[in-house]
Amino acid sequence: MKILVTGGLGFIGSETAISLIKAGHTPIIVDNLYNAKASVVNRIEAITGVRPEFHQIDVCDKEKLDELFSQTKVEAVIHFAGYKAVGESVSKPLMYYRNNLDSTLSLLECMLKHDVKNIIFSSSATIYGSPDSVPLRETSPRKEATNPYGQTKVIIEKILEDVSKVNEGFHAVLLRYFNPIGAHPSGLLGEDPNGIPNNLMPYISQVSIGKLPKLRVFGDDYKTVDGTGVRDYIHVLDLAEGHVAALKALDKDPGVYIYNLGTGRGTSVLELVKAFEEATGIKIPYEIAPRRAGDVDAVYANCDKAYEELGWKAKLSIKDACKDSYNFQKKNPNGIED
Ligand code: UD1
Repeated sequence: MKILVTGGLGFIGSETAISLIKAGHTPIIVDNLYNAKASVVNRIEAITGVRPEFHQIDVCDKEKLDELFSQTKVEAVIHFAGYKAVGESVSKPLMYYRNNLDSTLSLLECMLKHDVKNIIFSSSATIYGSPDSVPLRETSPRKEATNPYGQTKVIIEKILEDVSKVNEGFHAVLLRYFNPIGAHPSGLLGEDPNGIPNNLMPYISQVSIGKLPKLRVFGDDYKTVDGTGVRDYIHVLDLAEGHVAALKALDKDPGVYIYNLGTGRGTSVLELVKAFEEATGIKIPYEIAPRRAGDVDAVYANCDKAYEELGWKAKLSIKDACKDSYNFQKKNPNGIED
C-alpha cells in the first residue's frame, strides 16, 4: 500500500516508515524538518535498504500538499506531524493550536479533495486526562486536557469523528500512545529532543552519558508502589508495528476505530531507573524533587482491543528499551546530525 506519512522523519514516524517498508508497503514521507533532520532518510535507507520518497513540505502549506496529492495517488495517510512539547504548549498556546490544527485541517481537506478516505492518527493517552481508574480502556472517558498540546489531540480526535460521520467510506483510526521510549537497536534512530528533555527516558539517557548531572524525580508521595509516578512505557519499535497492524482496521466497515497502544504494565520512575541501571551497568544519580504540575499518580493501558482486533501486542521489554535508548544516546551524544 502507498501511504503518506506526515512527520515521517520524527522519532515515531521514522520507525513506522521502517516497519511499513519491512511489511512491503511504500511510505511517502512528508516532514518540514522542524523537529527532525533530513539525514534520517539516509538512516532509514541504511536500515532497510530502501530509500523512501521524501518531500520537505509543511503540512500547513495546503498548496504544496495539494500538489503532492495530485502527483501521487496514496491509499492512506498516517498523520504524525505536530508540535509535541507540553511545557512549550503552555507558554505558546497559539503556536500549538495554529500548527497542530491547521496542519490537520489542510491535510483532511486535501485528502477529501483527492478522494483519500483512510487516516491513522497519532493520538495520545493524554486525552484520558487524570484518570478515574486504571488500566485505561478505549471506552474510558476522554477528558479536557491540562495543556494546549493535549487539547489539540482531543480536538483532532473530535474533528476526525465529525468528518467520518458525513463522508461515506471514511476510515479514521485513532491510536492512543502511552509513553514511547527506546530507539532503533542499530543506534541510527532514536529520540532527539530539542534542548533539555522534558520526558523521563531522554533525561535518563542524557544523565547516563554525563550530559546532565542528575535526574530529578518529580515527587515520591504518589499513591503508587514506591511513591513515584507510574506510566506505561512502550518500546518505539513495538509502537511502530502497531501502525502496520492498524492498517487492518481500514478493511473493516467505514467509521472510527480507537486503539490504546501500550504494554498494559505500569512502571514507576524508580523502577525505570533501576531497569536502566541493570540493562546498561551505569549508575543514574538522582534526587527527589517536588511534584511537577499536571502529573498524576498512575497511567497505564489495557491493550486487549488492539490484540483482539488487530493481532498486535507489545513484545519488547523495558530493559530492551533502556539498552536501545542508551545505545542511541552514546552513538549520538548531540542528537542526529545532518
Ligand atoms: C508527558 C505529557 C503527555 C505527553 C507525553 C509525550 C505531561 C504532564 N504529560 O507524559 O501529555 O503525551 O509526555 O511523551 O507533561 N519524570 C521525572 N523526572 C523527569 C521527567 C519525568 O520524575 O525529569 C516523571 C514524571 O513525573 C512522570 C514520569 O516521569 O511520573 C513520566 O514523565 P514523562 O516522560 O514526562 O511523560 P508523561 O508525563 O507521562
